Amino acid sequence: MVRVTALMSVALLLAGCSDNLYDQPAPPDPAALEARLIALGLRPYAETPTDCRVPRLAAMPSTTEGLPRLSQAELAAIQACVAPVQAEVYPRSGVPAARSYATWPKASTQAYRSEHDLFLAAWVNQAGAPSYLDWEKAGPAPVGSRIAKASFTVTRDGRAAVGPLFFMEKMEKGFAPQGGDWRFTMIDGDGQLGGETGSATASRIGYCLECHKQAARTDYRLFVPEPYRAK
Ligand code: HEC
Repeated sequence: MVRVTALMSVALLLAGCSDNLYDQPAPPDPAALEARLIALGLRPYAETPTDCRVPRLAAMPSTTEGLPRLSQAELAAIQACVAPVQAEVYPRSGVPAARSYATWPKASTQAYRSEHDLFLAAWVNQAGAPSYLDWEKAGPAPVGSRIAKASFTVTRDGRAAVGPLFFMEKMEKGFAPQGGDWRFTMIDGDGQLGGETGSATASRIGYCLECHKQAARTDYRLFVPEPYRAK
């Protein structure tokens, strides 16, 4: 089940995005997709299981596909339970910001459900906060801005697992002219480095720009959905 959910989520990621991100095209053939991801060197199913549970779902599993619907209180409780496991898993990547992102100013008020079947929470460092938290009105992000998005999944019977950690860091002009000079980094849900712009693993995460380049006007930032924006 976790595998199917993860596959669907990556299917949606790779399906590219439309203006309305909540209206995604149907995922492609799972076998073809799996072949493409493996060819990219990605391990989309990597997660770290936790002991965190949603008691209601453990007693009576959700019957709908994908991430279960959770109340605000359930989300807050499960996020609080998962956070220390994320703090242990992500630094294994050796990426320095994976140790510190949770101390940055919050960019989201609570974990929110993304269209790719992940629950997400976002942070932005001090250098990037004034710009990012001005949302669509902001001009280009200053060099040194870093934005982090940590994720977790919940199965239909209420078991939570650590999902990937995503970073964007604004680099000096010329670092990645095709992508606003942002360095994209993905750390898999088991703490291994999935890929990073400007490194030997760059080709694996070229697909990040498939969506983010559509936001070139807002300096490649797609922003936290309105209801969950930190002030
Ligand atoms: C299917 C489209 C899609 C792909 C592919 C994608 N993203 Fe995003 N990304 C989004 C959307 C939509 C948001 C804003 C809403 C949200 O938080 O989900 C976002 C937000 C972000 C943010 C917070 C900054 C911002 O733009 O507001 C980071 C960091 C990020 N993505 C990193 C990545 C990385 C790293 C990759 C590649 C591994 C990636 N993204 C691939 C759609 C995508």
